[in-house]
Amino acid sequence: MQITVNGTRHRVDADPAMPLLWVLRDVLGLTGTKYGCGTGLCGACTVHVAGRAVAACQLPVGKVSAEVTTIEGLAAGPVQDAWIAHQVAQCGYCQPGHVMAAAALLARTDSPTDAEIDAAMAGHICRCGTGPRIRAAIHHAARQ
Ligand code: FES
Repeated sequence: MQITVNGTRHRVDADPAMPLLWVLRDVLGLTGTKYGCGTGLCGACTVHVAGRAVAACQLPVGKVSAEVTTIEGLAAGPVQDAWIAHQVAQCGYCQPGHVMAAAALLARTDSPTDAEIDAAMAGHICRCGTGPRIRAAIHHAARQ
Protein backbone atom coordinates (compact mmCIF):
# COMPACT_ATOMS: atom_id res chain seq x y z
CA MET A 1 0.00 0.00 0.00
CA GLN A 2 1.01 3.63 -0.29
CA ILE A 3 0.72 6.43 2.21
CA THR A 4 1.81 10.05 2.13
CA VAL A 5 3.65 11.26 5.21
CA ASN A 6 5.04 14.77 5.60
CA GLY A 7 4.67 15.38 1.90
CA THR A 8 6.46 12.22 0.76
CA ARG A 9 4.71 9.26 -0.82
CA HIS A 10 5.84 5.92 0.62
CA ARG A 11 5.22 2.37 -0.55
CA VAL A 12 4.71 0.39 2.64
CA ASP A 13 4.90 -3.38 2.91
CA ALA A 14 2.84 -3.92 6.06
CA ASP A 15 -0.28 -5.68 7.26
CA PRO A 16 -3.17 -3.25 6.63
CA ALA A 17 -4.25 -3.90 10.22
CA MET A 18 -0.95 -2.62 11.62
CA PRO A 19 -1.50 0.60 13.55
CA LEU A 20 -0.22 3.68 11.78
CA LEU A 21 1.97 4.35 14.83
CA TRP A 22 4.11 1.28 14.14
CA VAL A 23 4.37 2.03 10.45
CA LEU A 24 5.60 5.53 11.27
CA ARG A 25 8.08 4.41 13.91
CA ASP A 26 9.26 0.99 12.77
CA VAL A 27 8.84 1.08 9.00
CA LEU A 28 9.50 4.74 8.19
CA GLY A 29 11.78 5.54 11.13
CA LEU A 30 9.78 8.57 12.22
CA THR A 31 10.25 8.11 15.95
CA GLY A 32 9.06 11.57 16.98
CA THR A 33 5.57 10.10 17.35
CA LYS A 34 5.56 8.32 20.70
CA TYR A 35 4.07 5.13 22.05
CA GLY A 36 2.49 5.63 25.42
CA CYS A 37 -0.48 3.37 26.07
CA GLY A 38 -1.37 1.77 22.75
CA THR A 39 -5.04 1.98 23.67
CA GLY A 40 -6.03 5.49 22.60
CA LEU A 41 -5.96 6.94 26.09
CA CYS A 42 -2.79 9.01 26.45
CA GLY A 43 -2.38 11.09 23.28
CA ALA A 44 1.38 10.51 22.95
CA CYS A 45 0.92 9.08 19.45
CA THR A 46 -1.08 12.00 18.04
CA VAL A 47 -0.51 12.86 14.38
CA HIS A 48 -2.55 14.76 11.83
CA VAL A 49 -4.51 12.95 9.15
CA ALA A 50 -6.01 15.42 6.70
CA GLY A 51 -5.23 18.09 9.28
CA ARG A 52 -7.18 16.45 12.10
CA ALA A 53 -5.52 15.20 15.27
CA VAL A 54 -5.82 11.42 15.57
CA ALA A 55 -4.33 8.70 17.76
CA ALA A 56 -1.98 6.80 15.46
CA CYS A 57 -2.07 3.76 17.73
CA GLN A 58 -5.77 3.33 16.98
CA LEU A 59 -5.72 3.80 13.21
CA PRO A 60 -4.94 0.78 11.02
CA VAL A 61 -2.60 1.86 8.26
CA GLY A 62 -4.91 0.30 5.69
CA LYS A 63 -7.57 2.86 6.62
CA VAL A 64 -5.32 5.86 6.07
CA SER A 65 -6.66 7.59 2.97
CA ALA A 66 -5.33 11.12 3.44
CA GLU A 67 -1.99 12.80 4.06
CA VAL A 68 -0.35 12.18 7.42
CA THR A 69 1.69 14.83 9.19
CA THR A 70 3.92 13.90 12.10
CA ILE A 71 5.85 16.09 14.50
CA GLU A 72 8.80 15.86 12.11
CA GLY A 73 6.70 17.36 9.33
CA LEU A 74 4.97 20.11 11.31
CA ALA A 75 6.24 23.38 9.94
CA ALA A 76 8.09 25.50 12.48
CA GLY A 77 5.75 28.12 13.81
CA PRO A 78 4.05 29.78 16.74
CA VAL A 79 3.20 26.56 18.59
CA GLN A 80 6.80 25.42 18.86
CA ASP A 81 7.92 29.00 19.64
CA ALA A 82 5.36 29.23 22.44
CA TRP A 83 6.42 25.83 23.82
CA ILE A 84 9.96 27.15 24.11
CA ALA A 85 8.90 30.54 25.49
CA HIS A 86 6.87 28.86 28.25
CA GLN A 87 9.44 26.09 28.81
CA VAL A 88 6.60 23.59 28.58
CA ALA A 89 8.52 20.36 28.20
CA GLN A 90 9.86 18.60 31.26
CA CYS A 91 10.65 14.96 30.50
CA GLY A 92 9.27 15.76 27.04
CA TYR A 93 8.04 12.29 26.12
CA CYS A 94 4.40 13.25 25.62
CA GLN A 95 5.11 16.65 24.09
CA PRO A 96 4.99 15.72 20.38
CA GLY A 97 1.41 14.61 20.91
CA HIS A 98 0.52 17.77 22.77
CA VAL A 99 2.12 19.96 20.10
CA MET A 100 0.23 18.16 17.32
CA ALA A 101 -3.06 18.53 19.19
CA ALA A 102 -2.39 22.21 19.87
CA ALA A 103 -1.53 22.85 16.21
CA ALA A 104 -4.74 21.15 15.08
CA LEU A 105 -6.75 23.21 17.58
CA LEU A 106 -5.19 26.48 16.40
CA ALA A 107 -5.75 25.56 12.77
CA ARG A 108 -9.49 25.50 13.38
CA THR A 109 -9.81 28.12 16.13
CA ASP A 110 -7.92 31.42 16.05
CA SER A 111 -8.38 32.32 19.68
CA PRO A 112 -9.47 29.33 21.76
CA THR A 113 -10.98 29.77 25.19
CA ASP A 114 -9.67 27.94 28.22
CA ALA A 115 -12.59 25.53 27.87
CA GLU A 116 -11.80 24.87 24.20
CA ILE A 117 -8.14 24.28 25.05
CA ASP A 118 -9.04 21.94 27.89
CA ALA A 119 -11.44 20.01 25.63
CA ALA A 120 -8.83 19.70 22.86
CA MET A 121 -6.13 18.56 25.26
CA ALA A 122 -8.33 16.33 27.44
CA GLY A 123 -7.10 13.15 25.79
CA HIS A 124 -3.45 14.03 26.38
CA ILE A 125 -1.77 12.90 29.55
CA CYS A 126 1.41 14.47 30.95
CA ARG A 127 2.73 12.88 34.12
CA CYS A 128 5.06 15.86 34.67
CA GLY A 129 2.02 18.11 35.17
CA THR A 130 2.67 20.58 32.34
CA GLY A 131 -1.04 21.24 31.76
CA PRO A 132 -0.99 24.87 32.99
CA ARG A 133 2.07 25.65 30.85
CA ILE A 134 0.44 24.02 27.85
CA ARG A 135 -2.66 26.14 28.26
CA ALA A 136 -0.53 29.30 28.56
CA ALA A 137 1.54 28.30 25.54
CA ILE A 138 -1.54 27.74 23.40
CA HIS A 139 -2.89 31.19 24.32
CA HIS A 140 0.56 32.62 23.52
CA ALA A 141 0.65 30.89 20.13
CA ALA A 142 -2.87 32.11 19.34
CA ARG A 143 -1.73 35.73 19.81
CA GLN A 144 1.13 35.35 17.27
FE1 FES B 1 -1.86 6.12 21.29
FE2 FES B 1 -1.55 6.35 23.97
S1 FES B 1 -0.16 5.51 22.49
S2 FES B 1 -3.17 7.15 22.72
